[in-house]
Amino acid sequence: MWIGLLLFFVLVFTLYLVRQNTCTGNKANLSYSPVCKGLPLLGSALEFGKNPLKFLQECRKQYGDVFTVLLPGRRMTFIFAPTQELRKIFFNGSPNLISFTAGVEPLTCRIFGISKKGFSMAHRSLLTTLRSELGAKHIPQLAHRLINRYLFTFRTVWGKEDEKEASNLLTETLSDASLRVIFGDEFANASPSLFKDFVDFDEWFELAATPLLPHFLLRPFVKSRRKLLDTISQNWKYTKNAPIHKLTEAYGNDGNVPSLLLSALWATWSNVSPTSFWTLTHILADEKAKVKVLAEVEKSCPLLLSSKTELSLEWIFSNLPFTAYCVSETLRLYASVVDIRKVVENLEFREFIIRKGDYLCISPAVSHRETTLFPQSEDFIPDRFQKQGTHPNAVFDKDLLTFGGGFYKCPGQSFAMVEIVLLIALVFYLYDIQLVDRVPKMKESQSVGIKKPSCSCRIHYLWKRRLAGMEEI
Ligand code: HEM
Repeated sequence: MWIGLLLFFVLVFTLYLVRQNTCTGNKANLSYSPVCKGLPLLGSALEFGKNPLKFLQECRKQYGDVFTVLLPGRRMTFIFAPTQELRKIFFNGSPNLISFTAGVEPLTCRIFGISKKGFSMAHRSLLTTLRSELGAKHIPQLAHRLINRYLFTFRTVWGKEDEKEASNLLTETLSDASLRVIFGDEFANASPSLFKDFVDFDEWFELAATPLLPHFLLRPFVKSRRKLLDTISQNWKYTKNAPIHKLTEAYGNDGNVPSLLLSALWATWSNVSPTSFWTLTHILADEKAKVKVLAEVEKSCPLLLSSKTELSLEWIFSNLPFTAYCVSETLRLYASVVDIRKVVENLEFREFIIRKGDYLCISPAVSHRETTLFPQSEDFIPDRFQKQGTHPNAVFDKDLLTFGGGFYKCPGQSFAMVEIVLLIALVFYLYDIQLVDRVPKMKESQSVGIKKPSCSCRIHYLWKRRLAGMEEI
């Protein structure tokens, strides 16, 4: 009898396992996505954490276009397909099947301290406010303000000649300008320590986002977040007349405002600086690209610097097209390794079922290295988009996934492109500039956001022309 019982349990257990990996009934040809082999409890955390891009490229070779990566506390199912198909499924999929909010909520709440309730309420408002305030209609005014601020930083921080670390210099220039333009001068003047605290916060960002890792182990992160939230709480009353103000108006009495503003600050600052760093250093390392940029800026910058020019989005892209293609190509090469949603109901993709509760992921970085679409995909070739005739901003609705898509597409896309194109153009117009070090490799372990450089890179620059008023300050 014992043997009979044992056989019965073995049979039930086998049936259970089969059911876990295949589907029965009218969907007998569908199976659950294959799971990448990993260690007990840790799953693939070590390999993924070391070099997520390489790890995903290897998994794709081994398992194909759909596979699940196990990390402590989460199952991440990656899908690969032609870009337009990914747009349909991932960015524009039914909210009854996949959710953006549920996908990013754990991260947003954990990192910025927004309450779950606060996040879902404030999220739409954040998106719609920024989309409208930073949209095409406001670009001419925002662009003039950015230029004025860049010129101020050239005079006060860059100076006439020096050798400096490129990433720090560009980050300082951009952070000051975008803070003043989006949060306003009054807020920026009242918050002098914001940038330094943000640098500490951003350094710990990826580790602090790791599920199950208690934050009390990350004291520098907790400390810098506390300082940032204190500064923002004290000073957000000074954001009047700035684009971000509409958001604070809508959530004026809500305790989540400082956390919400911190998330907006992170979005404003974190991706633009590394993008401008890679754009600048790649142009400097590529003589042909440099010659083209120089010819373009010599022609367009006198008009760019005239207060009479209406700096519309179209004006900027049609007068600085090659510089803009350099930015688009940078955003292809250094795009985030992971973009994330959550599966709300079991989802069918190709011959697989993706389980409810999984994180559904795409990898812009891996997709942007498809050699069929992007020959010599590891090289910086800004001409590739120009040859196709695709507008430098429209590549993000076509082949590139860097800014996301659908309803949740980055609301700062046009502003970010303008910010970087203008800065690069002015740097080349005003300075003779050279690389002192080689273009570094990107930081291998980073999985979210535009990749940062793995080490420092110095540039040498010398003023080649003086602008009216440059000595005044
Ligand atoms: C190179 C620069 C930038 C890149 C690559 C970038 C990329 C992205 C991506 C991938 C998303 C998520 C979209 C999705 O998953 O579908 C996003 C969201 C967002 N971005 Fe950007 N972004 C950049 C610059 C900016 C700037 C300058 C701002 C603002 C001022 C901004 C504001 C935001 C905000 C507020 C969200 C959150 C939207 C939400 O929670 O739904 N971004 N961005």
